[in-house]
Amino acid sequence: MLFPDYRPRRLRQNKDFRRMIRETVLSADDLILPLFAINGKNVKNAIPSMPGHYQLSLDNLVKTAKDAYNLNIPAVMLFGIPDKKDSLGTEAYAKNGIVQRAARELKNKIPDLVVITDVCLCQYTDHGHCGVVEGNIIENDASLDLLARTALSHAKAGADMVAPSDMMDGRVTEIRNVLDENSLSHVPIMSYAAKYCSAYYGPFREAAHSAPQFGDRRTYQMDPANALEAIREVSMDVEEGADIIMVKPALPYLDVICRVRQEIDLPVAAYNVSGEYAMIKAAEKMGWIDGKKVMMETLTGIKRAGADMILTYFALEAAKDLLKKG
Ligand code: PBG
Ligand code: ZN
Repeated sequence: MLFPDYRPRRLRQNKDFRRMIRETVLSADDLILPLFAINGKNVKNAIPSMPGHYQLSLDNLVKTAKDAYNLNIPAVMLFGIPDKKDSLGTEAYAKNGIVQRAARELKNKIPDLVVITDVCLCQYTDHGHCGVVEGNIIENDASLDLLARTALSHAKAGADMVAPSDMMDGRVTEIRNVLDENSLSHVPIMSYAAKYCSAYYGPFREAAHSAPQFGDRRTYQMDPANALEAIREVSMDVEEGADIIMVKPALPYLDVICRVRQEIDLPVAAYNVSGEYAMIKAAEKMGWIDGKKVMMETLTGIKRAGADMILTYFALEAAKDLLKKG
């Protein structure tokens, strides 16, 4: 027999062979679009480091959410930018807070679009931390009640799923209990289970005005050097009743996505975060890369690593491209 006897190029020679043996196929079903809600009318504030993304008042939020729905994107993830902040983040769990009103409006106008809400305090606290601050300490147990109240208020406003991103220990149990006690046992929890303390969140914090005013998030978010610890974090959230577990960010943590996918039998979400988006957009603007191709390769890579769903600022763009290709 002629050397080599196996020739992988045989099945790469035309697009149909390639199509037949393709292992990972991205679909609009995999995508979740993050959106930023702000008070006001006809507000559309550009976020400079996230081209194509805006702080949106509810009228415009509904328009963008409709675009997502029409592109067959199943869900949006809502973030709120409140008018006022205080030490206990009271706007996070206010009945008429920005996320609560946005969730109500979206469910009213586009009932079939899944509305997920980010549950955290950092956009709502004057110190910008994700929990209650006493002295210079972010107090774990004192934060749980406020996080649970936030999740409950979102679910009462119609959120289809709540997604705690604070990284306090024990918050999934607390949220599950509060939802169950309030006849909301059908509302699933998507837990930001392995969330790393990442510099890739920079553009998001500009967009959501949520940067910590002192210190950093290293006492609660994970050390980027740790992967075994991610399995422990994720397992805890599974035991506490999480329905979907998330790894965040995505690109520098593909190994973690892969391990979690192999070890845990729940759906896995990956968050392709703001800095990952900004880098591609910036390089595209410089003319250094083909932005569309890098976007598709990136999202395919995240799915190939094991993500069942991807939260991404590329959701609209990618879904449009996928439609074109049929
Ligand atoms: C709030 C929250 C953050 C992100 C999602 N929820 C920021 C942070 O933890 O500082 C980051 C999202 C992104 O960068 O796209 N806790
Ligand atoms: Zn936070």
